[in-house]
Amino acid sequence: MSFQTIVEEIMSTHHSLLKRELPRISAQFETLCIEHPGNEILNEAKQIFTKVRNKVEVHLKDEETVLFPNGIAMERGSATTPTEINQVERLTEMEKEHDSCGNALTGIQNTLRTAVPVSDARDKLLENIQLIQDDFVVHVEKENSRVHPMFLELIGRK
Ligand SMILES: [Fe+2]
Ligand SMILES: [Fe+2]
Repeated sequence: MSFQTIVEEIMSTHHSLLKRELPRISAQFETLCIEHPGNEILNEAKQIFTKVRNKVEVHLKDEETVLFPNGIAMERGSATTPTEINQVERLTEMEKEHDSCGNALTGIQNTLRTAVPVSDARDKLLENIQLIQDDFVVHVEKENSRVHPMFLELIGRK
């Protein structure tokens, strides 16, 4: 499978899921915080989620605007877009972000289970975080084991 085919599939399935679900989860956090005013642990979990969301959004943007288009260009043998980013270093950093974001989401789920009493709103939020966690596993596996090695090979060939 070509680099282009894999990354296009990743964007249309996994990236689009994150773009749809991350704002939804932020809204669910807001609702839950209104239900539990003064729950500091919940408030902290919401703030941690906001940081994770920002990190994921920058990560997706770097993939969609720099790494993926440049990988496609290298594969076609056409000109790449100049970038300030050190692409090889950014790939290593991205693999660390794959781990750290997954771990942070697991931490948030554990906090919600222990610090927030059972309610429909809490369970819907947990369910939605689980949805992105499950999809993230597949997404990360494709990038770590296929996209990144292919990109490194393409950049080495240039
Ligand atoms: Fe991605
Ligand atoms: Fe990624």
